[in-house]
Amino acid sequence: MVQKSASVCLLGGFLGLFLMAPVLMTSTPASMCTPLKTLNDSLSHRRRYMKHNFPINYSIRVYREEIFKLSNISRMRLKVEELDDLVLQRLWFQVNQGVLKKIIRVMSERHPSRSYTAELERRFKDVEGVFVQSHPAEVFQQELPEAVQETWDHLTEEPDRVQESNWRLVSPKSLVDNLCHTMYCLFSECFDTETRQNCEYHSKDKTFKIPL
Ligand SMILES: *[C@@H]1O[C@H](CO)[C@@H](O)[C@H](O)[C@H]1NC(C)=O
Ligand SMILES: *[C@@H]1O[C@H](CO)[C@@H](O)[C@H](O)[C@H]1NC(C)=O
Ligand SMILES: *[C@@H]1O[C@H](CO)[C@@H](O)[C@H](O)[C@H]1NC(C)=O
Repeated sequence: MVQKSASVCLLGGFLGLFLMAPVLMTSTPASMCTPLKTLNDSLSHRRRYMKHNFPINYSIRVYREEIFKLSNISRMRLKVEELDDLVLQRLWFQVNQGVLKKIIRVMSERHPSRSYTAELERRFKDVEGVFVQSHPAEVFQQELPEAVQETWDHLTEEPDRVQESNWRLVSPKSLVDNLCHTMYCLFSECFDTETRQNCEYHSKDKTFKIPL
């Protein structure tokens, strides 16, 4: 009898853990806030380095899926049921590591924005390092929802296999703006309400659900 109740307790404990797991994983680990704020400090100079140091209307070629804005987040939340924020966060890292690489590639060693962008990339990688460390490895092996997997596959495609119609011309400034605005919403726990005011409309709870 005693044994039985003990095992029930144990089982209950395990169930509790499982039930809690998704909740724990959707929020941003507190350890990410420091590197995110450091990245945010760099991002505050983006107008100067991503716009003023480039010719007017200068744009670079990116994959269609490398345009990842707030509207994409709301659309994905509508399309994919119970979409975990962690999935969107993984996508954010995947998109933006490619974006930063592409921006750096168009600048010569002596370009006035080169060291700024290299620092931005370093700080971005620091955030990613903490992100990976603060979740169990299994999380990153979990299957992605189909629609997200499809986007992921396009993002990791070799450039010479990307169809002409799937390339877009975008200014470095708008790419980095996208990185910044989506960061405020996907890691909102690390930013104050004023900074993340644009997230409200795109947030999980406020996303308008189309009635069936
Ligand atoms: C992030 O940067 C913005 C713009 O520079 C600033 O207003 C905001 O206070 C910063 N937030 C944090 C948490 O560092
Ligand atoms: C830049 O783009 C805007 C909007 O498309 C256009 O009106 C303007 O003439 C362009 N400027 C240059 C210098 O190409
Ligand atoms: C974001 O939306 C645009 C416009 O619909 C689309 O072309 C792009 O592929 C989307 N990005 C992602 C990461 O899904």
